[in-house]
Amino acid sequence: MSLRIPAAKLAPLKDLPVEGTAAYRVLAGGIRDWLMDGRLVPGTVLPSERALTATLGVSRTTVTRAYQELVKEGYAATRRGSGTVVRFPGAGPRRLSPFGPQLTDPTDDQVDFTCAASAAPPGLMGAVEAAMCELGAHARGIGYHPRGMPALREAVAQRYRDRGVPTSAENILIVPGALAGAAVVARARVRAGDRVLIESPTYPNVTEALRAERARLVGIGVAGGWHGAEIAQAVARTRPRLAFLIPDYHNPTGTLMDDATRAEIAQILDAGESTAVIDETMAELDLSGDDGLARPAPFAAYSASALTIGSMSKSFWGGIRVGWIRAPRHDMEALHAASLTFSLGCSALDELVAVHLLADAEHIVAARRAALRQARDSLAGLLRTHLPTWEFTLPPGGLTLWCRLPEPVAVTVAAEAERLGVYVVPGVRFAVGGGMAHHVRLPYAGDPATFLGAVERLRSAYDAALRAPSSLPTPRDPVTLGERDALIA
Ligand SMILES: Cc1ncc(COP(=O)(O)O)c(C=O)c1O
Repeated sequence: MSLRIPAAKLAPLKDLPVEGTAAYRVLAGGIRDWLMDGRLVPGTVLPSERALTATLGVSRTTVTRAYQELVKEGYAATRRGSGTVVRFPGAGPRRLSPFGPQLTDPTDDQVDFTCAASAAPPGLMGAVEAAMCELGAHARGIGYHPRGMPALREAVAQRYRDRGVPTSAENILIVPGALAGAAVVARARVRAGDRVLIESPTYPNVTEALRAERARLVGIGVAGGWHGAEIAQAVARTRPRLAFLIPDYHNPTGTLMDDATRAEIAQILDAGESTAVIDETMAELDLSGDDGLARPAPFAAYSASALTIGSMSKSFWGGIRVGWIRAPRHDMEALHAASLTFSLGCSALDELVAVHLLADAEHIVAARRAALRQARDSLAGLLRTHLPTWEFTLPPGGLTLWCRLPEPVAVTVAAEAERLGVYVVPGVRFAVGGGMAHHVRLPYAGDPATFLGAVERLRSAYDAALRAPSSLPTPRDPVTLGERDALIA
């Protein structure tokens, strides 16, 4: 079942310049551009001709012919009983391989912009030494804690209490990272064919975890933030079992959902009996400068049924393979049973290290925020100088700049950049069902000393992409970065 876009959302198309071109062509081009850059998710039903005519103040013939033009070009199809549905030309959607060899050891000359992840904080070795001292006592037992070590579950619960959400250790299931947490939730909750609402763009490995359980994904556009009315309509029409959201520094856009929108969406999902699955992997990475004091309340404060996923990976280090799911007590057994189909728990040493890192979280995370703020501003400044036509909104947190290029050449830029030793992920990898051909994600979690050289090479890659318009790939082309596929974090 498809979602119909409200005519009001297309109102900005009223302002497209029409000089010298037939109005219907301009309108068709505008709709195609919105599809290409992700403002319209493939599979969305366009407004009725009558509604769009009224919204845009154009003639009915203009809208009719624009829709016909889109169908002729393959960017829309007419479906009996549904209307005109936007899509990409060509056959059915191609699956992108999500996993593959990563650029584990970049040489001095290579810059890996594929992973939004930082090096370990200075406090890591102290935490490891403290954990080693405690390991002896644990070594007398068998070392398995399939729900997580009690001390770690309590430490995680305490962090939620600190953020104003009553939580006990009984509400916490420890899992080997946030991606594992998403896979556990999908295994526990999704039956083949269930619909799952998901932002587009979004973190692609989670998309694959949901697809692995044969979820049918319903993409929700998040360009410019979350729109309650659109989500309400999606819930009403598709009755999704889950809604997977990243409200706290959304990956890849860095957007933060405000309190009012959290309350609104929580209410919509509760009323539609759809469970919110909230990925808080980036939640601690507030870069507003006030160390998170003005952060919105956790989504769980608005939704008692929400399942929240968290991780040590971004606030501390990705090498500590520890994450968690916070859930209502009555969901814990099903989640635990699902997690046992993947693993019997995390490494005891990692869990002990996590306890020590969490005990020192205020210092460690404050230092990380300060470093990231500088790194974000430095990368943003370089882009403004060297690639002034690339647009981005400075994100209030998280690890990435979501850049919009004037032309839909992101895949070619990625391929050209790789030739120059810079590895970037184009927008299509984050799109649910294709599109985002104008976007690249640039993380600023790496070493700022590498940014200038990387941006200069991106500039060369962009120039090369513009010189080769005939080689433009379609927005559906699978993105293999050269011979390899990239691990994306
Ligand atoms: C939104 C989001 N969820 C999950 C993950 C995976 O995190 P982990 O390393 O804890 O599995 C990432 C990593 O980048 C992420 O950005």
